[in-house]
Amino acid sequence: MVDWLGLYSQRVSSVRSSALRDMLRLTQEADVICFSGGLPAPELFPIDRFREACDLVLTVNGRQALQYSPTEGYAPLRRLVAQMLQPYGLRAQESNVLITTGSQQATDLIGRLLLDSGDRIVVESPTYLGALQSFDIRQPRYTVVASDEDGMLVDELAPLFRMRPKFVYVLPNYQNPTGFTLSMERRRTLVALAQEWGVPVLEDDPYSQLRYEGELIPPVIALDAAGGNGGYCGSVVYHSTFSKVLAPGLRVGWVVAPAEVIQQLVDLKQGADLHTSTLSQMVAFEVARDGFLDEHVGRLREIYGHRRDVMLQTMEAHFPEEVTWTRPKGGLFLFVTLPDHVRAKEVLVESLRRMVAFVPGEAFFPAGGGENTFRLNFSNAKPDRIEEGIRRLGAILKAFCVHN
Ligand SMILES: Cc1ncc(COP(=O)(O)O)c(C=O)c1O
Repeated sequence: MVDWLGLYSQRVSSVRSSALRDMLRLTQEADVICFSGGLPAPELFPIDRFREACDLVLTVNGRQALQYSPTEGYAPLRRLVAQMLQPYGLRAQESNVLITTGSQQATDLIGRLLLDSGDRIVVESPTYLGALQSFDIRQPRYTVVASDEDGMLVDELAPLFRMRPKFVYVLPNYQNPTGFTLSMERRRTLVALAQEWGVPVLEDDPYSQLRYEGELIPPVIALDAAGGNGGYCGSVVYHSTFSKVLAPGLRVGWVVAPAEVIQQLVDLKQGADLHTSTLSQMVAFEVARDGFLDEHVGRLREIYGHRRDVMLQTMEAHFPEEVTWTRPKGGLFLFVTLPDHVRAKEVLVESLRRMVAFVPGEAFFPAGGGENTFRLNFSNAKPDRIEEGIRRLGAILKAFCVHN
């Protein structure tokens, strides 16, 4: 008999267990009203467009699509990604782009590239659990910065940069889990500090296109003027994905960074998976091209924006007054804070009995805390289910706020 437990590497013990994974399992059950994962609405997947794209790719380029391909990614898709950032004034070229297997792989590769055990990284608190999980295996030390509705409190960064962190990880748009957006002023401050101290910014941006109100704010990488004729060569490593705007099952994401960083990431990616699925990349390109992506995003913004409104209005009507929550201008999530004495995990036990799922917030706090918080997703359930789920949750919360 193999003693598996005795064989696992020491690093494995530093990876936090995934509350999210357990939650995602729950979402498979049809009757559960699912406010837990960051799942897009499946009825909005553009299946006809995918069918046509698959057909075209296999008919015209089938032999290429089913073959191994370069680690950097499918060239037309790399160019499309570079073009997507041009309206913001970013001078990205193909050499600045690496296609990854979802944006989650980007986080993993950047951790591999930059982190030795014990290195310090600066993260928002709370922040995206999936990133913490992927950094954990490198055994970094987390330095946390709080945020408010204008995003990360960047004025607190200068003294932290004195400790020479390897990078600062930030989600400027409709942050996961809070839904907050980093203000323009703070973006400028962040870039200025990164340049002054030589600390890279890792910008995670899956949600910027899903904007329901407010002005379009350029990504942090676009505010970093360091671009020349040779392409982008600044302080920001940016990553994004088709997961939320087309389909997560594609597993197609990308990194935009200085070409020298891309080259290092390419070497590491080769060791990880050789390349992202050729078929997925070619299909993603055919689906997204000729303005389809923008059109589709327009539909998503309308429908998800309405779902957000339905959730907020129903919360207003049914949640007890001791409970507060964020009002995101885009993205997929809002974040709820309960009175100090109420544990979100205990609420979840009751809520699951009533077939409503959400994610308790504490896993998003790298330095602990947040036991009285939880995250709600509003993209996956239809409006009538959102109303029903929030009504059930409201009744449960009222009981907790009164009796505990
Ligand atoms: C902030 C953030 N980054 C990255 C990801 C992972 O995206 P992908 O499906 O492209 O791996 C998610 C998914 O929920 C996310 O919320």
